[in-house]
Amino acid sequence: MASFVVNGTTVLVDVDPDTPLLWVLRDHLHLPGTRFGCGAALCGCCTVHVDGEARRSCLLPVGDIEGRSVTTIEGLGTDGLHPLQSAWLEVDVAQCGYCQSGQIMQAAALLKAIPQPTDQDIDDAMTGNLCRCGTYQRVRQAIKLAAFGSIDGVPR
Ligand code: FES
Ligand code: FES
Repeated sequence: MASFVVNGTTVLVDVDPDTPLLWVLRDHLHLPGTRFGCGAALCGCCTVHVDGEARRSCLLPVGDIEGRSVTTIEGLGTDGLHPLQSAWLEVDVAQCGYCQSGQIMQAAALLKAIPQPTDQDIDDAMTGNLCRCGTYQRVRQAIKLAAFGSIDGVPR
């Protein structure tokens, strides 16, 4: 058994404590927005927040998050869309979309820690989130739009 909070709701799941959080989210809690990519903490597709920090859920045993608070892409916007989700839509970032929930969750953790990040801050935070469609330029633009109100990072 494992008990933790997901998107503000306490859940109790009957799983082995070694089960990766990703599978508990997808298969037991029916939250498919968090994606499986590499399964080796190398691509960032499975990024969620645990107590506000970005974590790779594919290698995170659910037993390690007992009593902690998890946020997934489904719960990121507390009152409608999160500003990053709105920016993502405005910039039209996604191509196939597969990596995008992980990209947004990683970016949300960045903006929570550093509300107005430098280019270097963005590179440092996002370097582990891979996109086989090559949306990196638009990911950066959307982060700047959410943080500064413009895609070039010049405050409007
Ligand atoms: S699926 Fe977790 S980092 Fe790739
Ligand atoms: S949008 Fe296709 S993998 Fe990133």
